[in-house]
Amino acid sequence: MKITFLGHATILIETAGKKIIVDPFISENPVSKDKINIDDIEADYILVTHAHQDHVLDVQTIAENNPASRLISNFEIVTYFSKFGIDGHAMNHGGSWNFDFGRITMVNAWHSSSFADGTYGGNPAGYVLESEGRSVYIAGDTGLTKDMELIPLFTKLDLAILPIGDNFTMGIDSAVIASDYVKANKILGYHYDTWPLIAIDHDKAKSAFDKAGKELILLPIGETIEI
Ligand code: NI
Ligand code: MN
Repeated sequence: MKITFLGHATILIETAGKKIIVDPFISENPVSKDKINIDDIEADYILVTHAHQDHVLDVQTIAENNPASRLISNFEIVTYFSKFGIDGHAMNHGGSWNFDFGRITMVNAWHSSSFADGTYGGNPAGYVLESEGRSVYIAGDTGLTKDMELIPLFTKLDLAILPIGDNFTMGIDSAVIASDYVKANKILGYHYDTWPLIAIDHDKAKSAFDKAGKELILLPIGETIEI
């Protein structure tokens, strides 16, 4: 499984011959818009955690550029985008579905979720993706919540993708505890450095995870890891 960081909370996952783009926000991302050409993005699936603009802004563009792609999200977000002719698979919390690339489970996130126009976006979510013998937790925007302890009851994670930028989501200290709750030792940080409000000290962040016996990966925009 290949995981590419496209800035903020935008992740491209390549697994089982499919491309899944998570929370596309590129065209107005001050740190990625000049590095990533949105028209170059190929996607079989668009996976969305919640309705905030910094997670859904480029859903429509990517869906139009990839007419065979499907949106995977909660019922409210799939319903919202269906009005623009976007095909989707709706889920809700606690549910799993076997797609052609693997299994997705929608899990809790402690946050909020509304569209820029005020439309209700359902409850925010995280996802567990199991594919090619690997298991990845995509936390979405969330604070630290004890619900995270439920995740390792069902799967053994190879990677946890956690927000670490603070203010809108967990900060670093909470994310270290979250990684304990989900029993993950390899963490990909996201949702940081996009704006001054969520800027982090990379060395401090890495050493906080290091002290807990864990590895924090902070990828430059466009860089890929393989798990
Ligand atoms: Ni949000
Ligand atoms: Mn966000």
